[in-house]
Amino acid sequence: MTGSGGRQVKVGIVGCGVVATAYYLPYLMRMETVDLVAVCDRFETRTQACMRLFGAKEQYLDYDEMIDHADIDAVFILTAPGTHVPFTLKAVEAGKHVLIQKPLATEMQDARLIAEAIRTAGVKAIVEPSSSTLLDPDFALLRELVKKGVLGDVLWFSLAWTGPTTYGPALGSNPYGQDAFYTKESGGFLFDLPYAPTQIVSLLGPCKSVFAHASIGVTDHTIVPEEAYDQFLAGVTDPDGANYWDVVLDLPRSKHVRMEAVDNVYSMYEMVEGGVGTCHVGRIYHPILPGTGGGALQIFGTDGNLLLGAGYTASIITSHKHLLPRVEADGWFHIPARGDHNRAKWPQPTPGAFNYYHESSQHLIDCILEDREPIVNVDWGLHITEMMAGALESARSGERYDMTTTVEI
Ligand SMILES: NC(=O)c1ccc[n+]([C@@H]2O[C@H](COP(=O)([O-])OP(=O)(O)OC[C@H]3O[C@@H](n4cnc5c(N)ncnc54)[C@H](O)[C@@H]3O)[C@@H](O)[C@H]2O)c1
Repeated sequence: MTGSGGRQVKVGIVGCGVVATAYYLPYLMRMETVDLVAVCDRFETRTQACMRLFGAKEQYLDYDEMIDHADIDAVFILTAPGTHVPFTLKAVEAGKHVLIQKPLATEMQDARLIAEAIRTAGVKAIVEPSSSTLLDPDFALLRELVKKGVLGDVLWFSLAWTGPTTYGPALGSNPYGQDAFYTKESGGFLFDLPYAPTQIVSLLGPCKSVFAHASIGVTDHTIVPEEAYDQFLAGVTDPDGANYWDVVLDLPRSKHVRMEAVDNVYSMYEMVEGGVGTCHVGRIYHPILPGTGGGALQIFGTDGNLLLGAGYTASIITSHKHLLPRVEADGWFHIPARGDHNRAKWPQPTPGAFNYYHESSQHLIDCILEDREPIVNVDWGLHITEMMAGALESARSGERYDMTTTVEI
C-alpha cells in the first residue's frame, strides 16, 4: 500500500474468467485508489487478455507464485468454488486482504478455518455476494423498517430462486463453466445461489434452524465448451465489451457435462426473531409465462406484508403507515425497480442500479484504507454458508439442523 498521500491499494486477482472480465476488472482498472498489479489464471490466453484490456502490469500462471512474489496488498479470488478455500487461506496467511467470490466454502469446517485465519491475520475480507445486503441502501432501509415493526410479528415467508428471468426467456442451466457450477466441488446450484439466504437474513435477521430436502434433478447437461470463452476474449478490444454473458447464451452448446452436486434444494428456515419460511434454489429448465414471476421473496406478518419483485425493487403494505417514508395512491410503499445492472442485453443496465461487484470492490478498498470492518464480512459469510451447508446436512440426516453461527443485523 502506498502512503496516505497516494492512497492506493495494490491488487492482484486470481481467475480471469467471466466474472472477472465482465464485472470486476473494468471497475478496478478505473479506481483511483487501486493499483492493478497482477492477474493470475491457469491459461495464459486469459492473463494476456487481461493485461491488454485492463492494464494489469504482471501475469502469473501459478497462484502460489503470485502470492509469494507479487507486490500486492489484496487478492480478489474469482476462480471456481473448488479453489476458494486453499486460495483464501494462502492469501490470508500471507497477510493479504481478500475479496472471496461465492461460495466461501461448501463445508462448515473449511468456512471456520478461513474465518479463524482472517481473525488471526487481522486482514479485511468481503464474502460475496453483497447484493441484497445492507451495503445496498434499499435493503438497509427495508431492514430498518422491519426492525421498527412495519410487519408486526413475522409469521411466514416464501422464496424461490429459480434463475433470473432477465437472462431471457429460458436460461435453463448455466451455459458454461463445468468447474464453477457442475462439479462436486462447486457445490451445485445450492452454493451457486447464496443470494437466496442472503435476502432472507438481510430482511429478517439471523437464522435459527433449517430443515431441508436436497436432490439432483437433472443430471445431463450440454454447455458451451471452454475454448469459446478464449475465442471471445481474443476478439474483445474495449474493456467494457468483455461481458461474456452478452454472447454465451447464443453460442452452440456442444460439451456434455454431468451435474455432480445438488440442483434442487427446498429448505424451511426458522428465524431467530420469529417466522418460518420456505426457500427453493435450483434452475428452471423451461420458460415461465411472462408476468407470473419466478417466486421472489414474500414476507407476511401480523400487521403487514413485504414483497420483492412484481415490477418493483420492493413493496410494503402495513397497518402502521406512519412508519413508511411514503404511501402511494394504491396504499403501498414502493421502492421503484432499478433494472438489472449485470447484463448488457437483458435488459440494458439502468444508471444508478446497485452493481454488487463494483460496490464490493469499492467497499473492500475503502475498508482497507480507512481501517474499517466490512459490512459483508466473514462472520456474515459464515452464517450464510451455514444456512446452505446446514440444509445439506439436514437433507442427509432427515433431521432439523440447528445453526451454530449468528450475525448482528
Ligand atoms: N459468471 C458470473 O456471472 C458470476 C457471477 C457471480 C459470481 N460468480 C462466481 O465467480 C466464480 C468464477 O465464476 P466464473 O463464471 O468467472 O467462472 P469461469 O470458469 O469463467 O472463471 C474461472 C477462472 O478461474 C481460472 N482458474 C481455475 N482454477 C485455477 C487455478 N488453480 N489457478 C488459476 N486460475 C484458475 C479458470 O481458468 C477460469 O479462467 C465462481 O465462484 C462463481 O460462483 C460468477
